[in-house]
Amino acid sequence: MKIETRKIEQAKEFAEKLMEKMTLTEKVGQLSQFGNSIYGGVESFFEDHYPEGKVGSYLSIHGAQKLNGVQKRLMEETPNHIPALFAYDVIHGFKTTFPTPLTQSFSWDPWYVAKESAKVAAKEAYAAGIRWTFAPMVDISRDPRWGRIMEGYGEDTYLTSEFSAATVEGFQGDEIGAEDTLLACAKHFVTYGACIGGRDYNSVDMSLQTLLDVYVPPFKAAFDAGCFTCMPAFNDFNGVPCTCNKYLLQDVLRKELGFKGVTISDAGAIAELVPHNVCANIKEAVELAFNAGIDIIMAFDPYNDNIPALVEEGKIDIKDVDAAVERVLVLKFLAGIFEKPFVDEKKQECFFSPEHRRVSREVAKRCPVLLKNDNGILPIDENKKILLVGPIGDDPKAILGGWAGPCEPAQTITVLAGLENRFGKENVTFSMGCSIEGSEEDNENIKKAADAVSEADIVVFAVGEHSGMAGEANSRSDISLPGMQEKLIEAVAEASKQKGVPCVAMIFSGRPLTIFSWRDKVDAILFAGQLGTEGGNAIADIISGDYNPSGRLSCSIPCSEGQIPCYYNSLNTGRPALGKWVFESKYRDLQIEPAYAFGYGLSYTTFEYTDLKLSKDKMSQDPDDYISVSVDVKNTGDRAGEEVVQLYIRDMIGSRARPMKELKGFDKIMLAPGEKKTVEFTLKNSDLAFTDWNMNKVTEPGNFTVMISKNAAESVLFASFKVE
Ligand code: BGC
Repeated sequence: MKIETRKIEQAKEFAEKLMEKMTLTEKVGQLSQFGNSIYGGVESFFEDHYPEGKVGSYLSIHGAQKLNGVQKRLMEETPNHIPALFAYDVIHGFKTTFPTPLTQSFSWDPWYVAKESAKVAAKEAYAAGIRWTFAPMVDISRDPRWGRIMEGYGEDTYLTSEFSAATVEGFQGDEIGAEDTLLACAKHFVTYGACIGGRDYNSVDMSLQTLLDVYVPPFKAAFDAGCFTCMPAFNDFNGVPCTCNKYLLQDVLRKELGFKGVTISDAGAIAELVPHNVCANIKEAVELAFNAGIDIIMAFDPYNDNIPALVEEGKIDIKDVDAAVERVLVLKFLAGIFEKPFVDEKKQECFFSPEHRRVSREVAKRCPVLLKNDNGILPIDENKKILLVGPIGDDPKAILGGWAGPCEPAQTITVLAGLENRFGKENVTFSMGCSIEGSEEDNENIKKAADAVSEADIVVFAVGEHSGMAGEANSRSDISLPGMQEKLIEAVAEASKQKGVPCVAMIFSGRPLTIFSWRDKVDAILFAGQLGTEGGNAIADIISGDYNPSGRLSCSIPCSEGQIPCYYNSLNTGRPALGKWVFESKYRDLQIEPAYAFGYGLSYTTFEYTDLKLSKDKMSQDPDDYISVSVDVKNTGDRAGEEVVQLYIRDMIGSRARPMKELKGFDKIMLAPGEKKTVEFTLKNSDLAFTDWNMNKVTEPGNFTVMISKNAAESVLFASFKVE
């Protein structure tokens, strides 16, 4: 949804008039955001600052009554009665929690899953007085060691761009600033997910072509969808921190992408320019960041403290201050807070409403990825005795996932509760087996779990990470199951084998985990991710067969950490691993293919692809020229199910080497048993463009291959065309 130019013009007129009455102190106040205690801003700090108009926005406090109170004081006691924007990290739900963004992306269903989740999240957050969320995080990540991979949509630019746009539309609704919506913020601009070694906040060093072709497009998608705010990343990009990087913030963001909205630093990022070693003190840091293009400073006070003096000294131009303040007032106008600064406290009755829980469950069941299902062991028949084993089994926080805001674990359906709801309490026994990260009692408890197998018809493991193991500052060097959980699987699977009891493993984590070493010990594996409030019910929907799993991976699952970065759209190299001789690009001790490829996922039914057709075999250089691609897909099994039809292309010869495969389209379709549908895609000339050596975006003439694929490793139909 584009913001109407008329509305922006109206907002600018309003801002200009207001600014005529504002002092420099008040103007800088609009560029200053206060924060709650974790950001060093205690409430007494607010008390000291607000009467002078030094508080423009406020981070991380919530609750209608509280925020109405703060707003009232601001409106009554500040010189120009300007309301504050209340901001909060509404990442995957507010009270009712949805799958984490990474888990949502497994659905390959952005326009339902991401959009509807964001819509409900916005409604609940709005009810609590919030108007601005710092989401979506649209950082591409090819490195599951990085904890924040859980906040993004995986490794692929095209898929992430779709989720980016859908999430923005979900938060912002049909009209920016409308009731029950939030302003979105695309973050972290840009390349944060490419931190060296997967270590959070670490440097990024990459080609400008990769920056523009892989990392920037999801931001463009957010802005095209109407996102009006953007947060630069903590990291340095090729040596210059994103927070003061003029190339990124001016040339790319403002000029190339045409972004007209507001930028906000990440929390503490301006002060961190000092340890980044690009300036000597906080005053210089403010000068660098503001002059590079950071409008609002998040959750700290240095703009209030330093900008007036820097203007006086001629180091910051007052015209730039005015331009930034105008943008912020335009944002506030668009958010509707001048018109409606307060919220009706009764609205909070919508928290955890049956409708919100229904959406949460509908969304959650569309995400888990079935990685393995030997002998069709899943779904589980009714009346089977289930032994649930593993530390996630009855852990509400783990199933909610990190960055879950003011969620309430007590409102959460754990795996145990979900299985009991569906299969009956009498049919489910739970044995924790071991703790998540290891404890002294683990050996004893593993033994107890193995002994319990004798009473069971099927074992279901619920293993993985706790909610704090992924997310910010939670990079891991070892991404296997933590603690003794692998040992637990081995012991219980061995006992099950002896008794002829099948085993299903369900993995709950904020990142792909390495499961290569134990995957053969179980009959089925479901990568569940982190599913939110209704997670346990969603799991029961899948394993009972009430819902046929339809998730597909949005990130490759590596065999081991040694393969990282692990992503499908790599280059061929001059010595591809063809197994022909020794001097090939490979590892001597491990395959180069991941354990499970991007796009992979099974269903309880099977699909057949036929009749790939291209509307023509030549495309001109007109950027709007296009080829229509169609393919027939049939459900060849005996259950209804959804297939994710994936279209990849390969540019066969380029002036720069081109990826072996690039996703350019997908469609998720539901098919009844025996049903056949035709799926259509449009491939435009501009979809084929890339950044050449001279930094021009070009679609080069030559041959292209179209691959209709089940996943990045398994293409089933091929066709080709030529760009002339
Ligand atoms: C994170 C941001 C977040 C901010 C405010 C920072 O540490 O990097 O993504 O929006 O905190 O909570």
